[in-house]
Amino acid sequence: MIAEATMVASDGYGYPNIPGIYTPEQVEGWKPVTQAVKAKGAVFFNQLWHCGRSAHELLNPNKEPPVSSSPLAITDPAYSKIYIGGTTMVDAQVPVALDEAGIKAKVQAFRTAARNALDAGFDGVEIHGANGYLIDQFTKSNCNTRSDQYGGSIENRCRFALEVVAAVVEEVGGDRVGIRLSPFTDFLGAVDATPYATFTYLVEQLNKFGLAYLHMVESRINGNTELENNPNSLTPFRLVFKGPFIAAGGYKRESGIKAVSSGHSDLVAFGRIWIANPDLPTRFLLNAPLNRYNRDTFYTPGMEGYTDYPTLEQAQATAA
Ligand SMILES: Cc1cc2nc3c(=O)[nH]c(=O)nc-3n(C[C@H](O)[C@H](O)[C@H](O)COP(=O)(O)O)c2cc1C
Repeated sequence: MIAEATMVASDGYGYPNIPGIYTPEQVEGWKPVTQAVKAKGAVFFNQLWHCGRSAHELLNPNKEPPVSSSPLAITDPAYSKIYIGGTTMVDAQVPVALDEAGIKAKVQAFRTAARNALDAGFDGVEIHGANGYLIDQFTKSNCNTRSDQYGGSIENRCRFALEVVAAVVEEVGGDRVGIRLSPFTDFLGAVDATPYATFTYLVEQLNKFGLAYLHMVESRINGNTELENNPNSLTPFRLVFKGPFIAAGGYKRESGIKAVSSGHSDLVAFGRIWIANPDLPTRFLLNAPLNRYNRDTFYTPGMEGYTDYPTLEQAQATAA
């Protein structure tokens, strides 16, 4: 199980109602959650996250301005409005470009958050390097205009991601650390001009750390929606990475079995169908029908669409 993305710092909030893991209160708040999940026998990782330029001072609890690799606001019209709650959307802000001290502070924030996650009872952490958030804003070429050692060449653009990984691994051990990457998405307007070259380099470098896994998002998915044209493949990265490889995005039971039996990946991650099916492994085992997910409640607070989908047993009892 990988928990929802969780803030590592107070200036990274890109949505209302999202969790954090950088204060003692937040660590305490997670404990009943990790206990409940682990009581059911799951291995439970927390996803560590900073939104970078998709954060907003109206969402950050201390009203800090957003930060990023470069002072570039999101301009892609699909993503340039930030939802701040209720029915209100506001323009994405021009972020403050982190200086070297600021970069070190963010690396440290990921490290501390990883320690906090273990203290809260998680088995490990997944570094969120995907989907156009802070780490991806360094890696991907169209968001990074820096001229120092964190921008320009592929090596320089991948430096921030690798420093975060190094710090988190040093803190909790490589076998407790995974990372998620999405080379092909344009989510939040983050696009790389040469995704195969950039991410092959990054994945090669990740081999140094003995990670628990590398988790990559298929090109057929952008955020949480299907794309029509998806010719790109994760296979080149799968071939370079020397540890367990997780593929995610648009998988169902049969396609998941095929992905693993063909060697496309070692594991498959499920998002939307898991949200709608609290007993997904049982249903897969039995090849039972699935509940349909309701997109309208994906990001709403409260139990509806979150903890109220029926198990197979409950659904059958209702139908009988
Ligand atoms: C409600 C919802 C919340 C999500 N939250 C996250 C998240 O916190 N971190 C992340 O990396 N992806 C997140 N995603 C994306 C999913 O992890 C996954 O990549 C995407 O849904 C495609 O996989 P699927 O076809 O199995 O759903 C979320 C998706 C949905 C629908």
